This record gives sequence, structure tokens and C-alpha cells, in this order.
Amino acid sequence: MHSVVISGTGLCQPPHTITNAELVESFNRYVDRENTRHAAEIAAGTRPALQYSSVEFIEKASGIQQRYVFDKSGILDPARMYPHYAERADSELSMMAEIAVAAAQQALAQAGRSGADVDAVLCAASNMQRAYPAMAIEIQQALGAGGYGFDMNVACSSATFGIELAVNAVRTGSARCVLVVNPEITSGHQAWNDRDCHFIFGDVCTAILVERAEDAVGADPWDVLGTRLATQFSNNIRNNFGFLNRSEDSDPNARVKTFRQEGRKVFKEVVPIAAAHIKRLGGEPSRDRPPLLPDAFANTASAGSIIAFHRHRADLARGDIGVICSFGAGYSVGSVVVRKR
Ligand SMILES: CC(C)(COP(=O)(O)OP(=O)(O)OC[C@H]1O[C@@H](n2cnc3c(N)ncnc32)[C@H](O)[C@@H]1OP(=O)(O)O)[C@@H](O)C(=O)NCCC(=O)NCCS
Repeated sequence: MHSVVISGTGLCQPPHTITNAELVESFNRYVDRENTRHAAEIAAGTRPALQYSSVEFIEKASGIQQRYVFDKSGILDPARMYPHYAERADSELSMMAEIAVAAAQQALAQAGRSGADVDAVLCAASNMQRAYPAMAIEIQQALGAGGYGFDMNVACSSATFGIELAVNAVRTGSARCVLVVNPEITSGHQAWNDRDCHFIFGDVCTAILVERAEDAVGADPWDVLGTRLATQFSNNIRNNFGFLNRSEDSDPNARVKTFRQEGRKVFKEVVPIAAAHIKRLGGEPSRDRPPLLPDAFANTASAGSIIAFHRHRADLARGDIGVICSFGAGYSVGSVVVRKR
């Protein structure tokens, strides 16, 4: 068995931000439009009127101040309420691959590596933009990597689950240098027209390079001391978009084909699972220890804990131990214990 390190991380940050004020202003215009359009049914009591969103609620309930997105105009257009992304030809690099390559190049540079050193690519994210070929194989080719690549999805825990697979591959010798990428274009499956959740998500892509410790040449490798995964089925975070939709003759634009959650239940059920999980790994979680991201990035699905590690690991001293931990739909909880070398 080989010792394993995380030798580099990368972050591809989208070009646009949406503040809560901008989001609420466009959402409330959407509410006015819809309520005017359905005025007769609302007056007859056969349809409930949509309610306004508010900046105060969003900040009090979630702490989110803004989110990054790859397209802003479509999301803020009250006649559309979702991003606009141009369809690309098969010969062009696809959008998820493009942002994954951008994040991966940072992780490789930090680790003193090039794409040719990579012998496995895992694309781990909450959604894939197509069924096949695997995004990971397109990314592998774009980076000039060898070996193999595959996609995996464990929703918001995709990154930590991906790291565990990468660590196991390096530990057992089936790969020496594994790239995990998390292209999270959450704006594509977010329900921007539902006030209960329209503020929650943002776009981003992260990358992590996992290598055999004895190979590492980068300036800041982190030992991987252990990983732990857990899942428990729940319908409280769910998205029914899928390849059988056509055969079901169901509406492709129905509300259930985008993100939905029972926020209160999720909060009550998942937080204790995650807290117990971290405790089992050792050490007491406390309020002042984890870096907080939601104010600037909102929820970025699987990328969140990697952004925290990427942006704040310089704050830790040699020998310090940290936990990269995630939780999300499934339910799924993943932890990676790391130590700064
Ligand atoms: C989503 C979340 C922020 C909502 O906060 P909350 O305090 O539970 O708020 P609720 O959904 O119970 O709503 C409280 C009230 O505000 C209202 N409300 C909801 N969205 C609103 C908005 N955007 N603006 C104004 N009011 C809003 C609700 O209708 C409700 O009104 P009521 O009391 O009259 O019924 C919170 O439940 C949460 O963080 N859950 C965990 C989510 C999570 O981690 N998910 C993982 C996703 S991968």
C-alpha cells in the first residue's frame, strides 16, 4: 500500500455574480407577471398567488449574499428564469469539460505536474450535461492525460466520494496520479422561479490532484490520513430529470425535473448525520473552525468543501489536521482527513 497526498487544487470561478438584491428584484417581477397572467384563477380561489421573495429572508435563513453564475441574463429575465447556454457542436469542447480543464490546469500547476502525468480522471458532479461519452474521457483527452476516466454522481458529496476512489486507486497502485474534477453548473438544474430555493445555488468548478506521496514534487502536499463515506436514502432532496422522461411522456419542464428539497427536514436530518460522521473521525466540530463560504459562493453542490480547502489551506500550519467534509442528496456524507506536510 502506498502513502497518498493531495498535491494540488484548482478553482474555476464564473465571470458573473448575482447579488440577493438583483435576484429578488427579478424574482418579484416574475411573481407580478405570473399573478397578472393568472389573475382570474387567483381571484376565483382555484390557484394560489405567488409570494414575493426578500433579501432579508435569504440572508437570515442562509447567510448567502451572492452567487457566481456562468450566465446572468437568462436567470434574471422574468420571462425565462434559467440561464442561456449556446448548444455546442460535437467537435467543440463541451461546457463542463471546458471549466474542468481550467480548474485542472491550476491544480496541475500547483502540484508541478502536466496533464501527461495524470493516469486517471474522475468527473464527480451533481449532474452530467450528457449521457455519454463520459465527461471525464473528454477532459482526459483535452489535458493529454493517459490511463482511464469515468463520471460519477453522488450529488453534493460527489467530490469527497471521488477523492476516496482516487485515494484507493493510488494507495493500491492501480493509478499513480488521479485528477478529480467537480464542474458544478448548478444554474442549469436550479429552480430559479421557486422562492423556497431560488437563492441557494451558485456555479463553480473545482479540481483536486491525488498522487503517490513519494512522487509529489509540489510545494504544498497534504497527507490523506483517511476517508469515510456514508449514505442513507431520502426523498427530501430530489430531481427527477432523467433519460426515461421521454418514455414516461412526462413534461420535460415540470417542476420536479429541477432541484427541490424539504429544506427544514434536510436541515434537521442531515446536519446530525454529518456531525456524527465528523466526530467518528475524531475531534469536536466547533463553530469558529470551518471557513464559511455561502456568503460569496452560495451552495456550489459538491465543490463547496473543495473551495474551502483551496482558499483556506494556507492558513493551516505544518502538521495541522483538517477534515474535508460534505453532505447532500442521497442522503450522502463524505469525509477526507488530511494533514499539512
Ligand atoms: C432552505 C433553508 C435556508 C430555508 O430556511 P427555513 O428557515 O427552513 O425557512 P422555511 O422554508 O421554513 O420558510 C420560512 C418561511 O419563509 C417563507 N419563505 C421561503 N422562502 C422565502 C423567500 N425566498 N423570501 C421570503 N420568504 C420566504 C416560507 O414560505 C415560510 O413562510 P411561512 O412561515 O409563512 O410558512 C433551510 O431550511 C436550510 O438551510 N435547509 C438545509 C438545506 C440544505 O442544506 N440543503 C442541501 C442542499 S444540497
